[in-house]
Amino acid sequence: MNLRAAVTLASPAPASAARPALPDAQTVTAVTHWTDRLFSFRVTRPKTLRFRSGEFVMIGLLDDRGKPLLRAYSIASPSWDEELEFYSIKVPDGPLTSRLQHIRPGDQIILRPKPVGTLVLDALRPGRRLFLFATGTGIAPFASLLRDPETWERFEQVVVMHTCRLAAELEYGRQLVEGLPDDPLIGDMVSGRLLYYPTTTQEPSARTGRITDNLATGRVFDDLAIPTIDPASDRGMVCGSLGFNIDMKAILEGWGLREGANSDPAEYVVEKAFVG
Ligand code: A2P
Repeated sequence: MNLRAAVTLASPAPASAARPALPDAQTVTAVTHWTDRLFSFRVTRPKTLRFRSGEFVMIGLLDDRGKPLLRAYSIASPSWDEELEFYSIKVPDGPLTSRLQHIRPGDQIILRPKPVGTLVLDALRPGRRLFLFATGTGIAPFASLLRDPETWERFEQVVVMHTCRLAAELEYGRQLVEGLPDDPLIGDMVSGRLLYYPTTTQEPSARTGRITDNLATGRVFDDLAIPTIDPASDRGMVCGSLGFNIDMKAILEGWGLREGANSDPAEYVVEKAFVG
Protein backbone atom coordinates (compact mmCIF):
# COMPACT_ATOMS: atom_id res chain seq x y z
CA MET A 1 0.00 0.00 0.00
CA ASN A 2 1.22 3.47 -0.87
CA LEU A 3 0.31 5.27 2.35
CA ARG A 4 3.16 7.74 2.49
CA ALA A 5 2.44 10.80 4.60
CA ALA A 6 1.33 13.76 2.52
CA VAL A 7 4.05 16.38 2.08
CA THR A 8 2.96 19.96 2.65
CA LEU A 9 4.89 23.08 1.71
CA ALA A 10 3.55 26.26 3.26
CA SER A 11 4.61 29.87 3.18
CA PRO A 12 4.51 31.78 6.47
CA ALA A 13 2.88 34.96 5.21
CA PRO A 14 0.38 34.93 2.38
CA ALA A 15 0.72 37.38 -0.41
CA SER A 16 1.09 40.70 1.33
CA ALA A 17 4.18 41.64 -0.66
CA ALA A 18 3.29 39.76 -3.84
CA ARG A 19 3.25 41.90 -6.94
CA PRO A 20 1.16 40.41 -9.73
CA ALA A 21 3.30 39.72 -12.80
CA LEU A 22 0.64 37.65 -14.61
CA PRO A 23 -2.85 38.66 -15.72
CA ASP A 24 -5.27 37.78 -12.87
CA ALA A 25 -2.30 36.60 -10.79
CA GLN A 26 -2.76 34.95 -7.41
CA THR A 27 0.00 33.75 -5.10
CA VAL A 28 0.42 30.12 -4.02
CA THR A 29 0.41 29.84 -0.21
CA ALA A 30 0.64 26.05 0.32
CA VAL A 31 1.09 22.86 -1.69
CA THR A 32 0.42 19.31 -0.45
CA HIS A 33 1.54 16.27 -2.44
CA TRP A 34 -0.79 13.40 -1.51
CA THR A 35 0.56 10.75 -3.89
CA ASP A 36 2.72 10.65 -7.02
CA ARG A 37 -0.48 11.43 -8.96
CA LEU A 38 -2.36 13.86 -6.72
CA PHE A 39 -1.72 17.23 -5.08
CA SER A 40 -3.69 20.07 -3.55
CA PHE A 41 -2.74 23.72 -3.27
CA ARG A 42 -3.98 26.95 -1.80
CA VAL A 43 -3.78 30.41 -3.34
CA THR A 44 -4.69 33.93 -2.31
CA ARG A 45 -8.29 34.87 -3.02
CA PRO A 46 -9.19 37.90 -5.17
CA LYS A 47 -10.97 40.34 -2.86
CA THR A 48 -13.91 40.64 -5.22
CA LEU A 49 -14.39 36.89 -5.83
CA ARG A 50 -17.74 35.55 -4.63
CA PHE A 51 -18.73 31.98 -5.51
CA ARG A 52 -21.32 29.36 -4.67
CA SER A 53 -19.96 26.14 -3.15
CA GLY A 54 -19.50 23.56 -5.93
CA GLU A 55 -18.57 26.04 -8.66
CA PHE A 56 -15.35 26.06 -10.70
CA VAL A 57 -13.01 28.72 -12.07
CA MET A 58 -10.40 28.72 -14.83
CA ILE A 59 -6.85 28.57 -13.51
CA GLY A 60 -3.46 28.03 -15.11
CA LEU A 61 -0.01 29.27 -16.07
CA LEU A 62 1.62 30.97 -19.03
CA ASP A 63 2.88 28.54 -21.68
CA ASP A 64 6.30 28.70 -23.32
CA ARG A 65 5.08 31.36 -25.75
CA GLY A 66 3.63 33.50 -22.96
CA LYS A 67 0.00 32.58 -23.66
CA PRO A 68 -2.32 31.63 -20.77
CA LEU A 69 -2.85 27.86 -20.50
CA LEU A 70 -6.06 27.49 -18.49
CA ARG A 71 -8.23 24.60 -17.26
CA ALA A 72 -11.43 24.38 -15.23
CA TYR A 73 -10.81 23.61 -11.56
CA SER A 74 -13.51 23.16 -8.92
CA ILE A 75 -12.96 25.31 -5.87
CA ALA A 76 -12.46 22.86 -2.98
CA SER A 77 -12.50 25.43 -0.18
CA PRO A 78 -15.71 26.73 1.38
CA SER A 79 -17.08 30.10 0.27
CA TRP A 80 -16.16 31.74 3.61
CA ASP A 81 -12.44 30.80 3.43
CA GLU A 82 -9.93 33.65 3.03
CA GLU A 83 -7.95 31.57 0.53
CA LEU A 84 -8.93 29.26 -2.34
CA GLU A 85 -8.04 25.56 -2.39
CA PHE A 86 -7.77 23.26 -5.42
CA TYR A 87 -7.19 19.52 -5.78
CA SER A 88 -5.50 18.20 -8.89
CA ILE A 89 -4.25 15.12 -10.66
CA LYS A 90 -0.74 15.17 -12.14
CA VAL A 91 -0.85 14.01 -15.75
CA PRO A 92 2.79 13.35 -16.82
CA ASP A 93 2.33 14.76 -20.33
CA GLY A 94 -0.69 16.97 -19.54
CA PRO A 95 -0.04 20.47 -20.94
CA LEU A 96 -0.97 22.21 -17.68
CA THR A 97 -0.63 19.70 -14.85
CA SER A 98 2.86 18.56 -15.92
CA ARG A 99 3.93 22.14 -15.05
CA LEU A 100 1.40 23.02 -12.35
CA GLN A 101 2.56 20.10 -10.17
CA HIS A 102 5.87 21.94 -9.63
CA ILE A 103 4.37 25.13 -8.10
CA ARG A 104 5.70 26.16 -4.71
CA PRO A 105 4.57 28.67 -2.10
CA GLY A 106 5.32 32.18 -3.34
CA ASP A 107 4.79 31.27 -7.02
CA GLN A 108 1.99 32.87 -8.98
CA ILE A 109 -0.79 31.25 -11.00
CA ILE A 110 -3.49 32.76 -13.21
CA LEU A 111 -7.02 32.66 -11.79
CA ARG A 112 -9.92 34.06 -13.80
CA PRO A 113 -12.39 35.30 -11.17
CA LYS A 114 -15.58 34.13 -12.94
CA PRO A 115 -17.02 31.15 -11.06
CA VAL A 116 -19.59 28.95 -12.84
CA GLY A 117 -20.95 25.41 -12.62
CA THR A 118 -23.92 23.13 -12.17
CA LEU A 119 -22.92 21.36 -8.92
CA VAL A 120 -24.73 23.93 -6.81
CA LEU A 121 -27.48 23.56 -4.23
CA ASP A 122 -29.66 25.98 -6.21
CA ALA A 123 -29.92 23.45 -9.07
CA LEU A 124 -31.56 20.86 -6.77
CA ARG A 125 -35.15 20.77 -5.60
CA PRO A 126 -35.61 20.60 -1.82
CA GLY A 127 -35.08 17.11 -0.41
CA ARG A 128 -34.18 15.15 2.72
CA ARG A 129 -31.02 13.21 1.73
CA LEU A 130 -28.16 14.49 -0.43
CA PHE A 131 -25.93 11.88 -2.13
CA LEU A 132 -22.49 13.06 -3.30
CA PHE A 133 -20.92 10.65 -5.83
CA ALA A 134 -17.26 11.21 -6.80
CA THR A 135 -14.38 9.39 -8.45
CA GLY A 136 -10.79 10.61 -8.17
CA THR A 137 -10.41 14.40 -8.01
CA GLY A 138 -14.19 14.70 -8.45
CA ILE A 139 -14.31 14.99 -4.65
CA ALA A 140 -13.07 18.61 -4.93
CA PRO A 141 -16.42 20.43 -5.36
CA PHE A 142 -17.86 18.30 -2.56
CA ALA A 143 -15.01 19.37 -0.28
CA SER A 144 -16.47 22.85 -0.66
CA LEU A 145 -20.13 21.86 -0.34
CA LEU A 146 -19.52 19.69 2.73
CA ARG A 147 -18.07 22.70 4.58
CA ASP A 148 -20.95 25.00 3.62
CA PRO A 149 -23.57 25.45 6.38
CA GLU A 150 -26.26 25.79 3.71
CA THR A 151 -25.76 22.13 2.71
CA TRP A 152 -26.60 21.08 6.26
CA GLU A 153 -29.51 23.52 6.49
CA ARG A 154 -31.09 22.16 3.31
CA PHE A 155 -30.61 18.42 3.92
CA GLU A 156 -31.19 16.12 6.89
CA GLN A 157 -28.54 13.61 5.86
CA VAL A 158 -25.54 13.66 3.50
CA VAL A 159 -24.08 10.45 2.04
CA VAL A 160 -20.60 10.72 0.48
CA MET A 161 -19.49 7.94 -1.90
CA HIS A 162 -15.92 8.31 -3.20
CA THR A 163 -14.07 5.74 -5.30
CA CYS A 164 -10.40 5.72 -6.29
CA ARG A 165 -8.10 3.08 -7.64
CA LEU A 166 -5.85 3.05 -4.54
CA ALA A 167 -6.36 3.68 -0.82
CA ALA A 168 -3.77 6.49 -0.77
CA GLU A 169 -5.84 8.32 -3.38
CA LEU A 170 -8.79 8.50 -0.95
CA GLU A 171 -6.73 10.30 1.68
CA TYR A 172 -7.50 13.93 0.78
CA GLY A 173 -11.24 13.22 0.92
CA ARG A 174 -10.94 11.05 4.00
CA GLN A 175 -9.15 13.71 6.04
CA LEU A 176 -11.66 16.30 4.93
CA VAL A 177 -14.74 14.18 5.73
CA GLU A 178 -13.36 12.85 9.01
CA GLY A 179 -12.47 16.42 10.07
CA LEU A 180 -15.98 17.78 9.56
CA PRO A 181 -17.31 16.96 13.06
CA ASP A 182 -14.47 19.08 14.50
CA ASP A 183 -15.07 22.01 12.15
CA PRO A 184 -15.76 25.10 14.28
CA LEU A 185 -18.44 26.39 11.90
CA ILE A 186 -20.42 23.27 10.95
CA GLY A 187 -19.19 20.57 13.35
CA ASP A 188 -22.36 20.62 15.45
CA MET A 189 -24.61 20.50 12.37
CA VAL A 190 -22.79 17.46 10.94
CA SER A 191 -23.04 15.29 14.02
CA GLY A 192 -24.96 12.06 13.25
CA ARG A 193 -26.01 13.25 9.81
CA LEU A 194 -23.01 12.31 7.64
CA LEU A 195 -22.41 8.89 6.08
CA TYR A 196 -19.11 8.22 4.29
CA TYR A 197 -18.53 5.29 1.92
CA PRO A 198 -15.02 5.31 0.42
CA THR A 199 -14.03 2.42 -1.85
CA THR A 200 -11.01 1.28 -3.85
CA THR A 201 -11.09 -0.65 -7.10
CA GLN A 202 -7.52 -1.70 -7.72
CA GLU A 203 -6.26 -2.73 -4.31
CA PRO A 204 -7.92 -4.27 -1.26
CA SER A 205 -9.23 -1.91 1.44
CA ALA A 206 -12.03 -1.86 4.01
CA ARG A 207 -14.56 -1.40 1.18
CA THR A 208 -14.07 -2.07 -2.49
CA GLY A 209 -15.86 -1.74 -5.82
CA ARG A 210 -17.07 0.96 -8.18
CA ILE A 211 -19.80 3.33 -6.95
CA THR A 212 -21.97 2.27 -9.86
CA ASP A 213 -21.71 -1.41 -8.91
CA ASN A 214 -22.27 -0.76 -5.20
CA LEU A 215 -25.43 1.19 -6.05
CA ALA A 216 -26.72 -1.28 -8.64
CA THR A 217 -26.27 -4.30 -6.36
CA GLY A 218 -27.65 -2.43 -3.35
CA ARG A 219 -24.53 -3.20 -1.34
CA VAL A 220 -24.02 0.38 -0.17
CA PHE A 221 -27.58 0.57 1.19
CA ASP A 222 -27.13 -2.74 3.04
CA ASP A 223 -23.73 -1.73 4.44
CA LEU A 224 -24.98 1.66 5.66
CA ALA A 225 -28.40 0.29 6.69
CA ILE A 226 -30.26 3.03 4.79
CA PRO A 227 -33.20 2.90 2.35
CA THR A 228 -32.52 2.84 -1.40
CA ILE A 229 -32.88 5.98 -3.50
CA ASP A 230 -36.31 7.60 -3.60
CA PRO A 231 -36.81 10.42 -6.13
CA ALA A 232 -39.37 12.07 -3.84
CA SER A 233 -36.80 12.86 -1.15
CA ASP A 234 -33.30 12.04 -2.41
CA ARG A 235 -31.01 14.37 -4.37
CA GLY A 236 -27.69 13.58 -6.04
CA MET A 237 -24.55 15.34 -7.22
CA VAL A 238 -22.14 13.50 -9.54
CA CYS A 239 -18.53 14.49 -10.31
CA GLY A 240 -16.00 12.20 -11.96
CA SER A 241 -14.70 10.93 -15.27
CA LEU A 242 -16.86 11.10 -18.37
CA GLY A 243 -17.61 7.36 -18.29
CA PHE A 244 -18.55 7.51 -14.62
CA ASN A 245 -20.86 10.47 -15.19
CA ILE A 246 -22.62 8.71 -18.08
CA ASP A 247 -23.08 5.51 -16.07
CA MET A 248 -24.32 7.46 -13.03
CA LYS A 249 -26.88 9.36 -15.11
CA ALA A 250 -28.33 6.06 -16.31
CA ILE A 251 -28.50 4.68 -12.76
CA LEU A 252 -30.08 7.80 -11.25
CA GLU A 253 -32.58 8.19 -14.08
CA GLY A 254 -33.43 4.52 -13.67
CA TRP A 255 -34.53 5.43 -10.15
CA GLY A 256 -36.65 8.30 -11.51
CA LEU A 257 -34.35 11.25 -10.75
CA ARG A 258 -34.16 14.00 -13.39
CA GLU A 259 -31.15 16.19 -14.19
CA GLY A 260 -31.42 19.73 -12.84
CA ALA A 261 -29.85 23.04 -13.80
CA ASN A 262 -29.58 26.50 -12.26
CA SER A 263 -32.55 27.64 -14.33
CA ASP A 264 -34.55 24.43 -13.79
CA PRO A 265 -33.81 22.68 -10.46
CA ALA A 266 -34.51 18.93 -10.31
CA GLU A 267 -33.26 15.83 -8.49
CA TYR A 268 -29.61 15.48 -9.55
CA VAL A 269 -26.76 17.43 -11.15
CA VAL A 270 -23.55 16.29 -12.82
CA GLU A 271 -20.18 17.76 -13.77
CA LYS A 272 -17.01 16.32 -15.27
CA ALA A 273 -13.93 16.41 -13.05
CA PHE A 274 -10.98 18.24 -14.54
CA VAL A 275 -8.41 15.95 -16.20
CA GLY A 276 -5.29 16.83 -18.23
P1 A2P B 1 -11.70 1.09 -12.07
O1 A2P B 1 -10.39 0.96 -11.38
O2 A2P B 1 -12.56 -0.13 -11.96
O3 A2P B 1 -11.57 1.58 -13.51
P2 A2P B 1 -9.67 6.92 -13.04
O4 A2P B 1 -8.42 7.10 -12.23
O5 A2P B 1 -9.51 6.05 -14.25
O6 A2P B 1 -10.37 8.22 -13.36
O7 A2P B 1 -10.67 6.14 -12.10
C1 A2P B 1 -10.97 6.58 -10.81
C2 A2P B 1 -11.92 5.60 -10.19
O8 A2P B 1 -13.16 5.66 -10.91
C3 A2P B 1 -11.42 4.18 -10.28
O9 A2P B 1 -11.68 3.55 -9.04
C4 A2P B 1 -12.25 3.59 -11.40
O10 A2P B 1 -12.53 2.22 -11.26
C5 A2P B 1 -13.55 4.36 -11.26
N1 A2P B 1 -14.28 4.42 -12.54
C6 A2P B 1 -13.78 4.68 -13.76
N2 A2P B 1 -14.75 4.65 -14.69
C7 A2P B 1 -15.90 4.35 -14.04
C8 A2P B 1 -17.25 4.16 -14.47
N3 A2P B 1 -17.62 4.28 -15.75
N4 A2P B 1 -18.17 3.86 -13.51
C9 A2P B 1 -17.79 3.73 -12.22
N5 A2P B 1 -16.54 3.90 -11.77
C10 A2P B 1 -15.60 4.19 -12.66
